[in-house]
Amino acid sequence: MDRLPTADTIRRLQQEFDTELAAAATDHAVQAVRDRYLSRKGGVITGLLKAVAAAPPVERPALGRLANEFKTLVETRVADRRAALEGSRPSADAVDVTLPGRMPPFGHRHPLTLVREQMEAIFTRMGFAVVEGPEAEDEWHCFDALNMPAEHPARDMQDTLYLATPLAGETGRADDVRTMLRTHTSSIQIRYMQAHQPPIRIVAPGRVYRRDDLDLTHTPMFTQMEGLVVGEGISLADLKGTLVAFARDMFSATSRVRFRPSFFPYTEPSAEVDVSCWQCDGAGCALCKKTGWLEVGGCGMVHPAVFEAVGYDAERFTGFAWGIGIERVAILRHRVTDIRMFFENDLRFLEQFSY
Ligand code: DAH
Repeated sequence: MDRLPTADTIRRLQQEFDTELAAAATDHAVQAVRDRYLSRKGGVITGLLKAVAAAPPVERPALGRLANEFKTLVETRVADRRAALEGSRPSADAVDVTLPGRMPPFGHRHPLTLVREQMEAIFTRMGFAVVEGPEAEDEWHCFDALNMPAEHPARDMQDTLYLATPLAGETGRADDVRTMLRTHTSSIQIRYMQAHQPPIRIVAPGRVYRRDDLDLTHTPMFTQMEGLVVGEGISLADLKGTLVAFARDMFSATSRVRFRPSFFPYTEPSAEVDVSCWQCDGAGCALCKKTGWLEVGGCGMVHPAVFEAVGYDAERFTGFAWGIGIERVAILRHRVTDIRMFFENDLRFLEQFSY
């Protein structure tokens, strides 16, 4: 500043400074404004102070005071502006509410649970109640009461997993202390009939255990859904109607169902229930072991000996029962080729069933 500054010049410079600082929106811009005024080399105020030093002695004190006040004002306003910018910046841990949300991975029910629930829904619509029973059972409920005495060949056929400890006080029978993991849900029929009088219309889902080797269609633990209907005048036609209605609802309209004569000690007559194989549509493949059919369970009319075991009048009441493998139904319903997939917990498999 070569010319001698006046009070007016200083006031005008101050106004310019205020405008520039107000427009500085970043730390970087504030620093540039500060340097323009306070820099030792070429700063506006540095020049101003030099010019004031050269002023005539009468004007020097007043001009000097104004120039120094300007300098202090620049320093405080720059500091204030920095603080204001700092305050308006979000802190490192602040939540940016404008960011799009991140979806947490949702879990979902296991395919077997979904199929079980679908089966329960179908039977519930037909008027059935859903009941449960214990997985650790005694031999009486699992075998004896189901017309399978100790020497009955079907009893070793089941290949049972026996437990070391008896279930205290379960049956109150001294000769009946051997306990086991239930080999079928049929034991729930017995427990339910002991506690209720006809008419009965129940389904009972649950895990069952057998000493089976693993293959495409067998696992040592699997799940069944038992069904039991007891009343007066219940016939084989009711059994077939119920299971055909179930199959039509559960599988596609094009699946075929067949009843194959069979034997179970607790039913007479007895039948095996097959559904046409989804993979070969009856032509025969590895999944259906070249038969064209997949067995889903067994069924029949409740044997009078079973009614006698639970104290029902076998002359008055008749009934039907079935045991369906839930995995077998799931294989058909979801076109799975290997039952083991349900138990391997491979997420690539499980995630396909999030309906
Ligand atoms: N308990 C049989 C099984 O595990 C299935 C079964 C067959 C259940 C006939 C029944 C029935 O209730 O009546 O293979």
